[in-house]
Amino acid sequence: MKVFQIGAAGGVGRRLARLLADRGDQVTGMYRDPAQADTVRASGAIPLAGDLIGDSAEELAAKLTGHDAVVFSAGAHGTGRDKTTLIDGKGLEKAADAAVRAGASRFVLVSAFPDALRDGARSEGFEHYIRVKKSADVHLTRTGLDWLIVRPGTLLDTPGTGHVTAGPAIEYGEVPRDDVAAFIAAALHEPALSRTIVELTSGRTPVADAVAALATGRPSL
Ligand SMILES: NC(=O)c1ccc[n+]([C@@H]2O[C@H](COP(=O)([O-])OP(=O)(O)OC[C@H]3O[C@@H](n4cnc5c(N)ncnc54)[C@H](OP(=O)(O)O)[C@@H]3O)[C@@H](O)[C@H]2O)c1
Repeated sequence: MKVFQIGAAGGVGRRLARLLADRGDQVTGMYRDPAQADTVRASGAIPLAGDLIGDSAEELAAKLTGHDAVVFSAGAHGTGRDKTTLIDGKGLEKAADAAVRAGASRFVLVSAFPDALRDGARSEGFEHYIRVKKSADVHLTRTGLDWLIVRPGTLLDTPGTGHVTAGPAIEYGEVPRDDVAAFIAAALHEPALSRTIVELTSGRTPVADAVAALATGRPSL
């Protein structure tokens, strides 16, 4: 599969690029900071410069042309409300519209639990982030793409366990970026996981088993 990653140099993105390359996919990794080209290349992807804010939908579509799938894991990572709107929100809309134009029908979005951090102090910036993420999900579900929305819990840099809990509605929790990447690498290639939303945390089920269960409509523990 020819996969185009948006956010390829990020925490989830570079882990995912390595897994996809290892399983034989041809991966193009979009980065915006020239210093990140080497990071993308080192993870096994072909680096391609691009900017969700600066590129037009037409320019982005030209970059996507020839790919089968898009994985969007870009994010403003706490750089402010305006950036969140432009990257996590309008950036996703632009990328989805570009995918439609380019005929890259499979589209995986790394989103977030709408009920993230309900039990702690919440800043206005975080509330804005959650609203933007939900609106991005809404936009993607209204396209004709073969979309999959993955909503991970709070992301950790601790080593992955290879085990997750996954389902359309699960309790909120944490999950290592390694395990998010492993789940997406498998789920991307599971055609039954189409036009569906999956919430994901650490859990007790091996990633491959969790994906296989979801493909038959069953959540995992
Ligand atoms: N942190 C959490 O606990 C959590 C929980 C659930 C979901 N999520 C979501 O999970 C996703 C992946 O997280 P992560 O940890 O991998 O994030 P990350 O490490 O911040 O990676 C995001 C990537 O997006 C890139 N990016 C930002 N703006 C861009 C633009 N205008 N054009 C192109 N690329 C751009 C960043 O590049 P630069 O380095 O140039 O900015 C970075 O490489 C994010 O969407 C995040 O919102 C996070």
